[in-house]
Amino acid sequence: MSAERSPDEIRREVQRRRTFAIISHPDAGKTTLTEKLLLYGGALREAGAVRAQKAARHATSDWLELEKQRGISVSSSVLNFEFRGHRVNILDTPGHRDFSEDTYRTLMAADSAVMLIDAARGVEEQTRKLCEVCRLRRIPIFTFVNKMDRHGRDPLDIMAEIEDVLGMDVVPANWPVGAGSGFRGIYDRLDSRLVLFSGGEHGTHRVDERVIPGRPDSRAIAEAMGPFAEEVREGLELLDGAGAGLDASLVSDGSQTPMFFGSALTNFGVQPFLERFLELAPAPVPRSSGGRGIDPVEHPFSGFVFKIQANMDPDHRDRVAFVRICSGHFMKGRQTTHVRTGKPIRLTNSTLLMGKDRTEVEEAYAGDVVGLFDPGIFRIGDTLSDEPGIQYAGIPVFAPESFMRVEVAGVQKRKALEKGVEQLVQEGVVQLFRDPEGGSASWILGAMGPLQFDVMIHRLKTEYGVGLTLSPLPYKIARWPQAGFRPEDFRYSERIRVVRDRDDRWALLAPSEWDFQRLLERNETLVLAETPDPSLFEGAGSAR
Ligand code: G4P
Repeated sequence: MSAERSPDEIRREVQRRRTFAIISHPDAGKTTLTEKLLLYGGALREAGAVRAQKAARHATSDWLELEKQRGISVSSSVLNFEFRGHRVNILDTPGHRDFSEDTYRTLMAADSAVMLIDAARGVEEQTRKLCEVCRLRRIPIFTFVNKMDRHGRDPLDIMAEIEDVLGMDVVPANWPVGAGSGFRGIYDRLDSRLVLFSGGEHGTHRVDERVIPGRPDSRAIAEAMGPFAEEVREGLELLDGAGAGLDASLVSDGSQTPMFFGSALTNFGVQPFLERFLELAPAPVPRSSGGRGIDPVEHPFSGFVFKIQANMDPDHRDRVAFVRICSGHFMKGRQTTHVRTGKPIRLTNSTLLMGKDRTEVEEAYAGDVVGLFDPGIFRIGDTLSDEPGIQYAGIPVFAPESFMRVEVAGVQKRKALEKGVEQLVQEGVVQLFRDPEGGSASWILGAMGPLQFDVMIHRLKTEYGVGLTLSPLPYKIARWPQAGFRPEDFRYSERIRVVRDRDDRWALLAPSEWDFQRLLERNETLVLAETPDPSLFEGAGSAR
C-alpha cells in the first residue's frame, strides 16, 4: 500500500494536473489530435496506432459483439501522459454515431475543454451542443482550428462564426502563416515569435520547429514568412486593433476562448498548442458541495461517479464506476464513505484505465479519474468522501433527442423486463418516461442517440434474459415545465405528449422546436426548461 502524502506533496501533485476533454463534431480530427498529443507526451513512439486501431475494430476478434457490429467504442476511457512536469488527463468523450449521454456526463468531470474545429467546416452541430454544456459549467474552452494543411475558410471568418454562434470572445493566441499545402507555421502573438515547421514524416514523428523571435514587421520575420508576409501582417494588425487581449479571468469562466491553428495530421502546430494550453488551462479548482467550495488540496479524499461502464463481454461481466477525484489523495486499499448510503467502502479493486489496457493504480490525486469495480452499488452522481458532510451535486439529466416506445409482449417476462429496465435506467443507460395513466405498457425510453438503445437491448438480453422490442416515436425534443403548466390543457394535443420523467416530474415531448415555440406564444405564463434541473450545472461545476 502506498504511503500517506504530506499536504505539500498533495499540493504539488494537484497543481500539475490538467484534466480536459476534447469536444468536436465527427471527423474534425479528435482521434488524430489525441494521438498526436500522446506522441508529444511520449506515450506513443510513433503515430498511427490509435487511428489504426479505430480502423481495425471490425477485424479484431475479441472486441465486444456490439462494438464489432457497430464499429464503435463503447468502452471509452481516460488517457494520460506526462509532459514537461504536467500530468495530463484526457477524458475521452465518445463522439460520432455513438454520441450518448455519457459524452455530456464526461464533461462534468473535466476542468477545461479543447474545442476542435475543422478549418473548412467551422462550427458544427455536435460541437455547438457540447460547447453549450461547457458554457453552462463555466469551464475554460480552448479552440484548436484543425486541418490547416487543407484549403479551409478564412481564419477571420471562423473567428466571427465562433463569436456569433457560440457567444464567446475569441482571442487568437497564434495566427497561421500560409494555408493548405503552403501552411508552414504560426505567428505566436503571446510571445511575439514566429514558429516555422518542417519534417514530421507525414505526421508519424515530431516536426522540427524553427523559432524566430520578434514582431511581425521585423525584417527577419518578414523574410522568413516569404510570400505570406503581407497577408499575415495585415491579419495581425487587424487583430491588434480590433480585439481585446487574453484575459485569464475571462478565459477561466469560458467567456473568452484562446484560439490556435494547426494540423493534427502533419503535427504542425501541435506542440505550440500543447505547451500554451498546459500553461493557460487550470489545475483542479474547488468544486461545490452544498454551496461550499471544496478545495482540492485542503480537503481529504473525495470524488464523484460521473459514468458507469458495464463490460458487455459475457466472460468478464463487470462494471466499472468512473470516479473523478475532486480533493485529496487516493490510495488503493483505503477506506472511505459512500455518501448516499452512508456505508464505509474499501477501495481495493481500483483500476486506472489507459486505453483498453487496465493498469492497477496505487495512488491518484484530485484531477485524476479512477475506475472502481462496481458490484452494483454505485449510481451516477454518487459521492465518495473521507470527510463527512461532503456531497457533490448530482450529474444533470440531459434532454434526450430520440424516443422509443417499449413494446411489452406478454405478462410472462414482464417482471424481469421491469426489473432490468429499472436497473439500467438507474445506471443511466437510457432515460425512462411514463405515461401518467399507464403502467409498463406505456414506457417511453429516451436517449441521445441510437447507441444507447442498442446497449439497452443487448444488456437486457444478456443480463436479464429478456428481449426488448422498441418502436420509434416521432418526438425529438423534451422540455420540463417550470411554471404555468396544467396537464389537462394537453389532453387533446396531437403533437405534444405529456409524460412523467424518472423522478416523477412532468415533461413534455414534441417532434420539433417549433411546437414549443408555438406553445409558448399561446401561453404566456408557461415556462419551459431544457433540462429538469438547470441548477445542477452550477453544482457540478467549479466553485470559483
Ligand atoms: P474524429 O476522431 O474527430 O472523427 O476524426 P479523425 O481523427 O478520425 O479524422 C477524420 C479524418 O480527418 C481522417 O481522414 C483524418 O486523417 C483526417 N484529419 C484529421 N486531422 C487532419 C488534419 O489536420 N488535416 C487533414 N488534411 N486531415 C486530417 P480519413 O480520410 O477519414 O481517414 P484516413 O484515410 O486519413 O485514415
